[in-house]
Amino acid sequence: MTTQPKIHVSDLNLYYGDNHALNNIHLDIPEKSICALIGPSGCGKSTFLRTLNRMNDLIHGVKITGKVLVDGQQIYNQDMDVASLRKRVGMVFQRPNPFPMSIFDNVAYGPRIHGIRKKSELVPIVERSLRQAALWDEVKDRLNKSALGLSGGQQQRLCIARLLAVEPDVLLMDEPTSALDPISTLKVEELTQQLKERYTIITVTHNMQQAARISDYTSFFLNGQLVETDQTDRMFTAPSDKRTEDYITGRFG
Ligand SMILES: Nc1ncnc2c1ncn2[C@@H]1O[C@H](COP(=O)(O)OP(=O)(O)O)[C@@H](O)[C@H]1O
Ligand SMILES: [Mg+2]
Repeated sequence: MTTQPKIHVSDLNLYYGDNHALNNIHLDIPEKSICALIGPSGCGKSTFLRTLNRMNDLIHGVKITGKVLVDGQQIYNQDMDVASLRKRVGMVFQRPNPFPMSIFDNVAYGPRIHGIRKKSELVPIVERSLRQAALWDEVKDRLNKSALGLSGGQQQRLCIARLLAVEPDVLLMDEPTSALDPISTLKVEELTQQLKERYTIITVTHNMQQAARISDYTSFFLNGQLVETDQTDRMFTAPSDKRTEDYITGRFG
């Protein structure tokens, strides 16, 4: 493989004060693939996800060493434009967090911040983003209604539409379906697989079936270490590390 990975992580360490939360992480993530991060609570999955768009910068007392390259560019360099990084590498959280405003305004929020003001330019962006998030048909007649009136699953897809509106190329998802019912979960899973055609996706999940269903690669974290990464089908049939096997067969975690 000579093609450059979309994301390259090497020798990555992160400390919250004295807590060494990420220990020498190495990982390459190819473009337009889905990588699932699995592992017990507190092992560093969310922390790792946040290192990929420098969201940990916002936490007091964090120290980070090592390399994270996105498209070959070291994002921890002094001269990195962090706002533009976060536009390229967007994040979806466990609890859907729509803003208390209309559906339209939620999706138009990012483009407006980036200087697009004309309604005639915003309308097609909002429609495209809602279509890509597989939500358009459900909301097209109520775009001016409050986003808070949507179901949890619709709200999560709205949050995904809000990200897509600023045209990122990497999507970070931190347990995006753990607060959703099974049908909404399935919709978000289907959506994630469609989005893979255009985006590189890294998703944290506690649901082994979900990891197996949707991801191309799986990385298993334990106590701040990345134990192993493999193609998902191989990881779930023949893990190479005993600790991975114990975890995926439900012996701990
Ligand atoms: N904002 C924070 N400040 C200090 N320590 C944190 C913070 N977030 C997480 N940690 C610590 O880092 C470790 C990994 O946590 P986290 O990344 O949230 O794990 P996971 O997402 O796998 O459950 C834990 O020991 C946790 O207590
Ligand atoms: Mg977490």
